[in-house]
Amino acid sequence: MKEAARQARTESRIVGFVPTMGALHAGHLSLVARAKRDCDPVIASIFVNPKQFGPQEDFTKYPRTLEKDAEKFAAAGVRALFLPEAPEMYPMGFATYVSVEGLSERLEGRTRPGHFRGVTTVVLKLLEIVQPHFAYFGRKDAQQAKLISTMARDLNLDTEIILGPIVRESDGLAMSSRNAYLTSEERIAATVLHRALAAAREELAAGERDAARLQSSIRRVLDAEPLMKIDYAEVVDVDSFEPVARVTSSSYILLAAYLGKTRLIDNMFMELRDGSADFTFHL
Ligand code: PAJ
Repeated sequence: MKEAARQARTESRIVGFVPTMGALHAGHLSLVARAKRDCDPVIASIFVNPKQFGPQEDFTKYPRTLEKDAEKFAAAGVRALFLPEAPEMYPMGFATYVSVEGLSERLEGRTRPGHFRGVTTVVLKLLEIVQPHFAYFGRKDAQQAKLISTMARDLNLDTEIILGPIVRESDGLAMSSRNAYLTSEERIAATVLHRALAAAREELAAGERDAARLQSSIRRVLDAEPLMKIDYAEVVDVDSFEPVARVTSSSYILLAAYLGKTRLIDNMFMELRDGSADFTFHL
């Protein structure tokens, strides 16, 4: 992989990279489409990274659909697919990790200790191997995207991190490889995450700026769904990822909840245009 990527760079080509864990859906492919606009070649990877799963998590049952994935990537115009195996990524004696302090312990990191250390370590390794000019990540995983951007800045990586919008099913559910775990009952109930964010968007559009009041209306919508158990619902500033009391700058509303054994996350990104008091909502 290193040799092929080095070859592309010596030919002065712009290398784009889309790392994934496979079980591809339209969210992943939207990142490939975005990469194709800026780069040639676009390289993708599939690696179900054991280091980012907790001991009680779904590493062994994570969906693996390699043949279909390879076809989808090829049809989308991916020129090279990198499929490392765990023993070559983590040889005997592997001992070096990278973690972004602070933010990696909050929100997702609080419920999933060690998760983000696994993510940033594998992403740094993948970026070192592929050495892309641009790497593409989805805002579906907003905290992950923030941590990866922070790592790239802090460690002076030669890769620019580009974020793409959330791709949703027609009923609003954010696409996720983990949606395959949902029973048909849970799948119907899962739209409540999107409905809760849409309710917050209505209130924001009507002028509400108080984070606590937005959070309680989100909780009201989520609590009305008996199958859903909330993990967190927070309003954070888009740059610091610190919780805000009032929504006055570009922000995220971040949600995590359990449907049975399946943990789902979703968010709404609110962008304040320069010189304007109005938000553009990305939901
Ligand atoms: P995975 O869950 O396979 O996601 C790969 C990329 O697709 C991530 O950047 C994720 O944010 C993006 N993505 C997933 N669902 C999306 C959706 N509905 N809309 C837009 N983008 C979406 O995230 C990972 O893998 C791993 O943690 C990884 C970064 C590959 C490191 O192992």
